[in-house]
Amino acid sequence: MSLLQTENTVAGLRLATTEDADWLVPFLNRTFAPDNYFKRTERTNPSQVAEYLRNGFFLLLEDAGGLFGLVYTELRENSRGYIGMIATDPDRQRGGIGTHLLQIGEEFCSNRGSRVIEISVVNLRPDLVAWYQRKGYQIVGEAPYVRPEVLILPCHFILMEKSLAPTSNAGAENSN
Ligand SMILES: CC(C)(COP(=O)(O)OP(=O)(O)OC[C@H]1O[C@@H](n2cnc3c(N)ncnc32)[C@H](O)[C@@H]1OP(=O)(O)O)[C@@H](O)C(=O)NCCC(=O)NCCS
Repeated sequence: MSLLQTENTVAGLRLATTEDADWLVPFLNRTFAPDNYFKRTERTNPSQVAEYLRNGFFLLLEDAGGLFGLVYTELRENSRGYIGMIATDPDRQRGGIGTHLLQIGEEFCSNRGSRVIEISVVNLRPDLVAWYQRKGYQIVGEAPYVRPEVLILPCHFILMEKSLAPTSNAGAENSN
């Protein structure tokens, strides 16, 4: 069975709702803190998370100890999906959870028609670019940072993409 087939009922994985916004913020800010040195603000805030929830989906991994990982996804035009803000609890990193979250995000988008996944990485994170390259993503371009007014260090986004293999569902839909 696909991990996401029953995404609201599989133990450990669920979609965030607007009621989760307030406590997703501290989780994201704590997780991103070591890599946030190039900005004068924290990674995010409640109004930004509320906007993300209007535009896309947070998929949460939880266990008895609470939230330990999340991934944000957006379904975009032209069969494209976007994945961002993969975050693993700092106490549980380097154990494969981030890789699993990326797969969850890709499967979520793929099951909803995405054929290409887009990712943006700040150019100050070559380690992260290399991590995504090991997961099959390629650099396709650059873009300006979205909110330059919060920057302490100049930076820009590196744009990365990965083509997804067609799912069996998509094949069935296409054959009708
Ligand atoms: C980036 C991030 C999501 C990775 O999460 P993670 O749970 O540590 O991910 P993984 O364990 O799957 O992989 C991390 C890397 O750790 C290393 N690693 C994994 N297990 C390891 C181990 N037992 N010992 C040492 N290193 C190990 C590997 O290099 C691995 O890369 P690989 O998958 O190519 O082999 C996490 O570091 C994080 O939340 N960072 C802060 C937020 C952030 O920057 N998010 C990304 C922006 S989209």
